[in-house]
Amino acid sequence: MTKIALIGFGVVGQSFARVLSQKQQELKELHGLDAHIVAISGRSKGSLMVKEGIELEHLLASFEDNGTVESYPTGIKGLDSIQTIKESGADVVVEVTGTNLETGEPGLSHIRKALSMGKHVITCNKGPPALAYNELKGLADENGVKFRIESTVMAGTPAVNLGKETLAGNKVNGFKGIINGTTNYILTKMEQGGGYDATLKEAQELGYAEADPAGDVEGWDAVGKVVILANTVMGADLKPSDVEREGITGITPTMIDEAKRENMRIKLIAQAHIEDGVVSAKVAPERVHMTDPLANVNGTMNALTYMTDGLQDVTVIGRGAGGVETAHGIISDLIAIYR
Ligand code: HSE
Repeated sequence: MTKIALIGFGVVGQSFARVLSQKQQELKELHGLDAHIVAISGRSKGSLMVKEGIELEHLLASFEDNGTVESYPTGIKGLDSIQTIKESGADVVVEVTGTNLETGEPGLSHIRKALSMGKHVITCNKGPPALAYNELKGLADENGVKFRIESTVMAGTPAVNLGKETLAGNKVNGFKGIINGTTNYILTKMEQGGGYDATLKEAQELGYAEADPAGDVEGWDAVGKVVILANTVMGADLKPSDVEREGITGITPTMIDEAKRENMRIKLIAQAHIEDGVVSAKVAPERVHMTDPLANVNGTMNALTYMTDGLQDVTVIGRGAGGVETAHGIISDLIAIYR
């Protein structure tokens, strides 16, 4: 049995529990992976530890009725997140607390603790890898465990591992794409006549937007993702403050209409390039011609093109935000660790 401690029980944590509950049997039959959540710790949703594994359907039903995981009838309650990591006996810690691109906390402390205790870590939290990927990967290597972050960029749509693992043997000289779902959703809705504030509220309700949506609309979320891709795929050592940044708060319906009259769409484009061995990165709105495939990536869809020496351009398009989509990225990392 592979034992998982789930740290964070917001949109992604709950979706991960639901997807795992639906896939548990399939994972066992197809991959031989017998995965069980043995502990959950959420900032405002309580904590629960059941060493023999939590019955997920039961947990989710009782959570829906009561709003806390502590309504589950058995198990140890009331531990904090660090105690949960230490005492759960888990092999894998799935860290899905909220992103903080300034301090990386509380995720950074959770991940350091788990890796130093010899536990594999999977995270969708962009703060720790954007601020300290090399340190955390080093800590994982020292302790003989894995640190996997597929769902930090484009949720479950392959992005990090596509560049790092699948394209191995190619040199990635740069990348360009739409890697924030919330801003792409807002820009698409604005083109259809939707108001900025109402659309942002909708994106929050759908679970796409960050807890503080400034993280999306001012470009910080895309900056975090650019840093993660540049550092993991291109071997760079960028910090979020190294990335030139402009969000979409200055984009008006008039600008969108003007672009449309010239057969263009405004998109928040994230990119990085290498020149003379130096990697530079940028996030900013750009007018993209309708003949460019990126112009037709709308709503919460994301797209990413890697520019490589061998295969030239390799593009992936898919869903890049949302609880279920992110949960699938976590599941793919879980299977990769198990393999
Ligand atoms: N807020 C992010 C987005 C979530 O809108 O893309 C996925 O990282």
